[in-house]
Amino acid sequence: MSTPSRQVVITALGDLSNLSIVRTTIPDPPKDQVQVRSFYSGFSGTDINMRLGRYPMQKKAPFTPGYSLVGKVVKNGPGCSQFRLGDIVACLTVYDAQSDYANLPQKYLIPVPEGTDLQQATALIADWSTAYGLAINTGRVSSGQKVFVHGISGAVGYATMVLCQSQGAEVYGTCSEKNFAAIEKLGATPFAYTDKNWIQSLQSLGGADLVFDPLGFESWDESYSILSPTGHSAGLWRQPRHLNRSSRAISTLAHHQATSQKSVLLQEEDNLLLYHKRQYELQA
Ligand SMILES: NC(=O)c1ccc[n+]([C@@H]2O[C@H](COP(=O)([O-])OP(=O)(O)OC[C@H]3O[C@@H](n4cnc5c(N)ncnc54)[C@H](OP(=O)(O)O)[C@@H]3O)[C@@H](O)[C@H]2O)c1
Repeated sequence: MSTPSRQVVITALGDLSNLSIVRTTIPDPPKDQVQVRSFYSGFSGTDINMRLGRYPMQKKAPFTPGYSLVGKVVKNGPGCSQFRLGDIVACLTVYDAQSDYANLPQKYLIPVPEGTDLQQATALIADWSTAYGLAINTGRVSSGQKVFVHGISGAVGYATMVLCQSQGAEVYGTCSEKNFAAIEKLGATPFAYTDKNWIQSLQSLGGADLVFDPLGFESWDESYSILSPTGHSAGLWRQPRHLNRSSRAISTLAHHQATSQKSVLLQEEDNLLLYHKRQYELQA
């Protein structure tokens, strides 16, 4: 039996006028899929890039965005018995999470530990697992290192900053001037991305041990120019054009279930404060 649902639909690539919230129905889950009633779904830079058509190898419009969700299992499709109805699960969906209900492959669901703040857990699935992949798995950041984070006020940048600080690193990064005070309060050093003063400043400090760069192309050379003699840079998404030129370049896409599990554990152990800028309701 199909289930009434509301969902965000990007009808064509482009500005916000191409985004609508529609009433629809979701069919019963097919084989090996589970139907989840979403409590929260994540919204960050990737969703915007997808709407603008800038995300690598993305779907053509129309599609429903939403890279991650936390919700409750409401129906098991044929062949599914891993979760009981009512179990709270999280999923890195990539698409379709900005919807009341979603049918998702059972193998991509992870159980959410009892007592977890579900809103905070939502940020762990994409933003924080990406940051965890960058800072811990790939960067292996350690105490005393100097780390530079492009977009330090953003979803991934903020998480990367907190994780690097938790390892004892000194963190620098770029953001808008309106966000300087918040970043300084958190113990990091902000620079404006509207000028290039951060390049000279980092060079005069002897360079960064690690640079995390989601921008790519021209920024890749700039990131490279602020590395210490033994530093490494990690590109976050677009494959940098000069990847082959640099033996010190790492490219990572940290989207996998194991990392999400580690992030959930990390939150339990360290009681990190995850941070949400705003909450939107689905209204159709
Ligand atoms: N969220 C994820 O899980 C995820 C996963 C993989 C890859 N990514 C990619 O990582 C990038 C950042 O994603 P996000 O979710 O963190 O986005 P976000 O929350 O929208 O943050 C964007 C950040 O970029 C800064 N920024 C804006 N314009 C800039 C410019 N011209 N130059 C330099 N920095 C600028 C913003 O600073 P102000 O707000 O202070 O202006 C903010 O810190 C995107 O390309 C996204 O596709 C994200």
